[in-house]
Amino acid sequence: MTALLVILALLAASGHVAMSVYLNNRLHAQGWPRGLTKVLSAASHTLTPVGAVAVAWACIVWLPGVAGAGSASAAWWLLAAYVAVCGLVALGPLPLSLWQRRAYRPPAALLSNHSTLLDLSQEPEAGGLVGPGWRRWLVRLPGNEVLRVEINEKRLALPRLDPALEGLSIVHLSDLHFTGAIGRRFFERAVERANAMEPDFVAITGDLLDKTACIDWVPYTLGRLRARHGAFFVLGNHDLRVDWRRLRETLEDSGVVDLGGRSLVAQVNGRSVLLAGNELPWFSPAPSAPGEEGDEPCALRILLSHSPDQIDWARRHGFDLLLAGHNHGGQICLPVVGPVFSPSRYGVRYAAGVFERPPTLMHVSRGLSGKTPVRYGCPPELTRLVLTRAIGQSFASGVESRPGG
Ligand SMILES: [Fe+2]
Repeated sequence: MTALLVILALLAASGHVAMSVYLNNRLHAQGWPRGLTKVLSAASHTLTPVGAVAVAWACIVWLPGVAGAGSASAAWWLLAAYVAVCGLVALGPLPLSLWQRRAYRPPAALLSNHSTLLDLSQEPEAGGLVGPGWRRWLVRLPGNEVLRVEINEKRLALPRLDPALEGLSIVHLSDLHFTGAIGRRFFERAVERANAMEPDFVAITGDLLDKTACIDWVPYTLGRLRARHGAFFVLGNHDLRVDWRRLRETLEDSGVVDLGGRSLVAQVNGRSVLLAGNELPWFSPAPSAPGEEGDEPCALRILLSHSPDQIDWARRHGFDLLLAGHNHGGQICLPVVGPVFSPSRYGVRYAAGVFERPPTLMHVSRGLSGKTPVRYGCPPELTRLVLTRAIGQSFASGVESRPGG
């Protein structure tokens, strides 16, 4: 009987943890004031163990105590129903997740993904790869992948692509999270690799830093990005926590163009390419009806957004390509289960990868870093996207992520 009660208590605790993860994923997708988000998040984190202990106490101490009393039967049924609900919450999504991952096929628009590894974990720290502070021990945790950057080249099919834009390339960088835990040298190396890809555009999709002091890194890192037709950025929710006005100014002064809440048209091979930035829900406004105000139609419409939750906004405004980040691929992907943490109102659905939501094709980067420098089963990512009109070709090779992975 004791073993059964312990199992019931564990089941209830699992349900509390699952509910807390579900709520926190949605909570951090909202644009609510940070103070409110922190309070609600802390309440959730507190109630999870408190509730688990309460149920454990009920299962292990209280129930056996009332077993002989007249109310025992009702108490048993009440607790059994509660534990059953917790069990469903904890274990219910698991079969669905396993089925989704098993049934997953890369979208037809992803023609190929060739990956190489930039392994900086073997380099000496003396070069500024790992910074000082208490987080440095996290960077050096056994198996931690934060210094092992996956360099991807993904070919994406856009059947409506103007022939003059065939082969257009975009280096997509996201979620750099300068904190000092991972040193400036790491990002300088990533920028060197990005420049070696010789892209037409560079797109940076937010969460650039978590410490205002790290704005001084910008000229030595993002400011050195090179692309034939320019480098562009939008900001993310973490940028809102620092001196973001100075961050925008520094980026602009370094030659990186601010797309936050605005759009512009670039000329590529005689064709107009619309570039727009949507920083909702953290920075307003979104660009107002970009390219729909009687302007001549653009051959290609690209949207930068920190959050992939803006996918429906992108579709409504007819964007061909949406580049996003924010979810970090979950940062930790459990064996079989995959990602768990993904601050999106869609949960882990858009944690990372390529998604076809006609008329929009979306690429969600796992990002290059994170505020907490820990990654397992989910290495940082630096990706060159190559656009092509080619259709009907199958996915060639690579490690494109499973749903959310
Ligand atoms: Fe981020």
